[in-house]
Amino acid sequence: MDTYTLGGSTLAAAGTVLTREDVQNAIARAKQDWESTADTLPHVVCLLDDQRCAVRVNRVIESWQLGRVNEVLGRDMHELLHPGGCGPDCELGRLLDESWKRLRDGQFAEFEVFDCTLERALQVALRRISADASGRRSPGHARAVMIVYDVTPLHAARAALVSLNESLEARVHARTAELESANRDLQNEILRRESAEDALRQSRNELALLSQQLIKAQESERRRIAQELHDSVGQSLSAIKYSLERATVLHRQERHADTHPLLIRTVERVQETISEIRAIAANLRPSVLDDLGVASALAWLCREFGETYPDIGVHTCISAADPDIPQRLTTTVFRCTQELLNNVAKHAKATHVSVALARETSTVTLIVCDDGVGLPRASSSGSFWLGHGIRNLRERTEMTGGKLTLASEPGCGTRARIDWHLTSTDLADAWTAQSATQLK
Ligand SMILES: Nc1ncnc2c1ncn2[C@@H]1O[C@H](COP(=O)(O)OP(=O)(O)OP(=O)(O)O)[C@@H](O)[C@H]1O
Ligand SMILES: [Mg+2]
Ligand SMILES: [Zn+2]
Repeated sequence: MDTYTLGGSTLAAAGTVLTREDVQNAIARAKQDWESTADTLPHVVCLLDDQRCAVRVNRVIESWQLGRVNEVLGRDMHELLHPGGCGPDCELGRLLDESWKRLRDGQFAEFEVFDCTLERALQVALRRISADASGRRSPGHARAVMIVYDVTPLHAARAALVSLNESLEARVHARTAELESANRDLQNEILRRESAEDALRQSRNELALLSQQLIKAQESERRRIAQELHDSVGQSLSAIKYSLERATVLHRQERHADTHPLLIRTVERVQETISEIRAIAANLRPSVLDDLGVASALAWLCREFGETYPDIGVHTCISAADPDIPQRLTTTVFRCTQELLNNVAKHAKATHVSVALARETSTVTLIVCDDGVGLPRASSSGSFWLGHGIRNLRERTEMTGGKLTLASEPGCGTRARIDWHLTSTDLADAWTAQSATQLK
């Protein structure tokens, strides 16, 4: 008995005779089944024969514009997908050949490739179709099924995901770098503020110390003035009072010959006392400082020093004129010179001292040099200063924008130099003062 098979399934059961009509009906049904299933799929489904030629293809082939279903039947599977031909190095062709070989070895084959000819990413799966129950295969029988999926959107999505990941990673990197640099800036700022706070604290402490010293200096100055008034003026006034009382008694006794010399002596004492008071006042603040200016006051101070200490030769080199020195510096320059000269007299055992005051365009320089014993060596703690003189001088200098430099070698004398850098206000003031002097 003849049996008819379709798609590998046997249509005749043992002992059943099929008419031609039955077979045609069965074929029509199978066709319908194929159309209702394979044609609705979104991928290419193709049945292949022994020669890997298409025996059936679904309609997707048309929507992929690879030809009409009827035209493509009988084409080799490679030609089916590349109907317009392709180069000898076609990757799809190579992979199809390999897959076909594996299929012949009884294996299942699947691969993915981006096909430049179709401009699609393809996923291709090839499976064997087993022979029918009788084991026979007529020519044109399907031996394998090839399913070609278009995975382009999937690839695009994957690529988009990868690029998104990369850009996300780049942004995370950039943000991390930004944060790190902001963090560094913040840390630097914290350090800067901490050091500014330290400096502020230190300058507050120094200021407190300075004001304490100022109060002490003021007190000791008051004590010194009180002492001086007591010892000199007080003594003189007591002596004058006593002489006048004595003169009154002598006058009452009409001892005119004794009264006269006593009164002359008393007038001399009064004159001396006046001079003493002048000297005290001049020492407190020489009037020449206010009347003329600091350059003239220094010249006066040096003269006074020379008279007071005749064993020390004084050389004065004052190249600056009174109006050259800004008003705000006059007292400081005077007091510094006074302290430096006092130190020479007290400590240096010098035979010569020189005092120089010069004005450059934007600096005022005071130099006091002696040829005495030099400063004592600093102790291990770096300090040899027992008195307040130098410390006060340094603070006074720094408060007025100057810088003190002390240089000394034992036995080779001491050189004190102070430089004041003039501000633009100083320069303007000096200019006004100079113009005023020229007009006089
Ligand atoms: N020209 C100098 N030659 C040698 N030693 C000096 C000279 N000037 C200062 N000294 C030394 O430096 C020390 C400190 O001087 P500073 O003027 O600070 O204090 P002082 O003169 O001892 O006391 P004060 O000025 O408070 O009355 C002095 O005791 C002295 O040993
Ligand atoms: Mg001193
Ligand atoms: Zn090809």
